[in-house]
Amino acid sequence: MRLLAAIPLLLVFSACDDESSNAQTELVPKESVAEQSAPINSHRFEMVSTDRNEHGERLSAVLGCIGCHKLDLAGEDWSDPDWGVMWTANLTHSAAAFSEHELTAMIAEGKRPDRALMDMPSYLFSALHPDDLAALVGYLKTLPVKGVQHPDPTIGPKLAEEIASGTFKDSVRQVAEMKNKAPPDLGPEHAVARYILRATCAECHGMNLQGRIEPMLDAPPPPNLRIVAAYSAEAFSTLMKTGKPVGDRELKVMGGVSRGRYSRFTDGEVKAVYDYLAELARRGP
Ligand code: HEC
Ligand code: HEC
Repeated sequence: MRLLAAIPLLLVFSACDDESSNAQTELVPKESVAEQSAPINSHRFEMVSTDRNEHGERLSAVLGCIGCHKLDLAGEDWSDPDWGVMWTANLTHSAAAFSEHELTAMIAEGKRPDRALMDMPSYLFSALHPDDLAALVGYLKTLPVKGVQHPDPTIGPKLAEEIASGTFKDSVRQVAEMKNKAPPDLGPEHAVARYILRATCAECHGMNLQGRIEPMLDAPPPPNLRIVAAYSAEAFSTLMKTGKPVGDRELKVMGGVSRGRYSRFTDGEVKAVYDYLAELARRGP
């Protein structure tokens, strides 16, 4: 399943698009700018169980760790002659080799003790609540070591060009550029949804949720999420839980993403995300 392998390339090409547009100032009417929400990382995902490791396991699905690092988190080969050797890390080995502090820095800052990570979307996780990060790291620490450790990335000719032209940004630089960016602030009642959207939907639909122009493999580009105006709350819940959209259609990427990740949302999270997106659509394009 190489579906998700398109994502690092998307990041390479589009991580910089997001910073140029400031959807927040354009979209939020002046009066709501005054009602400041608390910092984005003061919110968190719902605790379904009191067991912190179970919470971490749910987050590893919702946040897509299991997409790129595979279900067993033992990694996947994304190597390509033009781009170079690139494996998503075997996190069962990483969890044994690194301290909790080091794992947290890799996930949320893109920093490995010896180098910057490449193609790990740490910018998405740079505004996670400290408890959500701790639960993720705690869960990784419970994984039994499995399989082999994968090689470090190499730089193929295409990647060398991207580095020379400044188009490629490693994970540390992406964090520096994106850490303070977030989807539009729609006020305190939508703050939890904004936290959730920033940590996961923004990966493909962009930090401003306005979609991207690049198609993802044989699927259409991720659309502007204001498309949710076409969904009832119930139809949106069906999309999140089963991957089935409105109309008689199959979604190529989003279907599997919903089943793999968002079927693990709580009902409260689905409703929060829907309410946020419906309100966002009401405020304009
Ligand atoms: C879009 C794909 C993608 C997603 C989503 C993703 N990762 Fe990664 N991750 C990567 C890639 C690629 C690397 C390898 C980077 C490198 O070696 O430079 C990596 C590396 C890492 C590392 C460094 C490990 C090491 O030993 O070098 C950690 C830790 C990590 N990821 C944890 C996570 C966690 C936890 C999540 C979910 C919260 C996650 N990743 C989500 C692609 C992804
Ligand atoms: C890994 C990439 C990825 C992530 C993460 C992602 N999406 Fe999507 N999404 C897509 C793509 C690609 C499409 C275009 C349809 C397809 O897959 O064929 C899409 C389509 C959609 C659509 C339009 C469905 C329709 O009726 O055509 C909605 C609504 C949507 N996504 C919501 C979300 C929400 C909400 C989140 C976060 C909770 C999210 N997406 C996360 C890639 C993604």
